[in-house]
Amino acid sequence: MERGRPEFGSPEGAEDLAAVADIIAQAFAMPPADSVAWVEKAAANIRVLREQGEVLATATAIPMGQFFFGQRVSMAGIGGVGVAPSARGRGAATRLMRHALQELRGMGFALSVLYPATQPLYRRVGYEQAGARFEIRVQAHALDFSERSLQLRPIKASDQPAIQEVYRRYASTRQGYLDRGPYVWDRVLHPRKETAYGFLVEGANGVEGYLYLVRRSKVDLQQELFLTDFVALTPAAGRRLLSFLGDHRSLAREVVWTGAQVDPLLLLLPEQTYQVKLLFHWMLRVLDVPAALESRGYPQGVSGTLHFELEDELFPDNSGSFILEVSGGAGHIRRGGGNSLMRMDIRAFASLYTGFMSPEALRSVGALVADDATVRLATTLFSGPAPALPDMF
Ligand SMILES: CC(C)(COP(=O)(O)OP(=O)(O)OC[C@H]1O[C@@H](n2cnc3c(N)ncnc32)[C@H](O)[C@@H]1OP(=O)(O)O)[C@@H](O)C(=O)NCCC(=O)NCCS
Repeated sequence: MERGRPEFGSPEGAEDLAAVADIIAQAFAMPPADSVAWVEKAAANIRVLREQGEVLATATAIPMGQFFFGQRVSMAGIGGVGVAPSARGRGAATRLMRHALQELRGMGFALSVLYPATQPLYRRVGYEQAGARFEIRVQAHALDFSERSLQLRPIKASDQPAIQEVYRRYASTRQGYLDRGPYVWDRVLHPRKETAYGFLVEGANGVEGYLYLVRRSKVDLQQELFLTDFVALTPAAGRRLLSFLGDHRSLAREVVWTGAQVDPLLLLLPEQTYQVKLLFHWMLRVLDVPAALESRGYPQGVSGTLHFELEDELFPDNSGSFILEVSGGAGHIRRGGGNSLMRMDIRAFASLYTGFMSPEALRSVGALVADDATVRLATTLFSGPAPALPDMF
């Protein structure tokens, strides 16, 4: 290794950034000019792995949060993982991820989340499936609501603080949704190579909902409306926004957005004129077990004391016995408990933590060991709405 050039760190200087842009262009089949622009935007969040001073792999860590039962848990999203084509197949990505996770844990992040292009790589460093992203495709002809009681207008730049506040109120009620930072907001407002048009609805108390839509042209002048964001805080806002989408039905055949498998807005439609499709299971890594368990919320009215034991190869602090006490919607964790009644590794714990897999489901595939009584207790503590993410990163 060249002196002063650590194996892992931020890109240093124009040469490193050019190497990152080249790796990204080739990894994601992006025109080189686009990858240069992307690298400029993401520069502060980019990390690289070097060998003899040369950059051979890169990843981006995006600081944000994730909501569980109304509480924000600090989370670092991982994106833009790429290895130079000539350096693949000899452990560079694994080394890069290990370094990145060490850094993120050191920075105080409790969780990390990513969309995997290959699972074995991420499983090896402690990630596991922990939630989903669905596509909701609605036939526009069925959105004939004629509901116009709330005022609807285009979003102006000065509306941004109110929009972000409305998003946050909404997201905090949805299991697993992001507390977005500037990186994800940029993807909502400025989707790559497309234009997002924003519209909001307001009532007496201000903004009640909004959406950002991208008009995609299809054959014979027809359109598909893709929503990069769709938020309704009140039933009236939901109906008004669906009406507004229906106002496009002369040319738009379908309206598409992403989110959870069960979207309450679909209950407003008279018939099942929609399709819901799984796009991806995202993976999560618990970086700091006590922080993750104490900063999330729990169902109100549920209480119990759970003894469990974890194994985490990468972070020994996460290994060993814990006691989790849940009451009043909060969790408290302490060490100890010796003869644990429930055991799993850090990957199975990720699936349990978000409520993606029940203890019974994990036990059925051999990912968790526990007796029946402990499985029942863990089920009450960790069950909740299916965790979902509308956003990609
Ligand atoms: C996927 C990628 C990052 C792997 O980099 P790498 O340095 O070759 O990975 P490693 O050598 O650390 O391999 C770790 C594990 O990942 C998996 N893996 C590696 N390359 C893979 C590939 N091309 N396709 C599918 N899985 C792959 C293997 O399970 C491997 O373990 P094994 O060698 O014991 O079988 C690299 O091929 C790449 O940049 N691909 C294009 C961009 C991309 O897909 N990025 C991931 C976005 S989430």
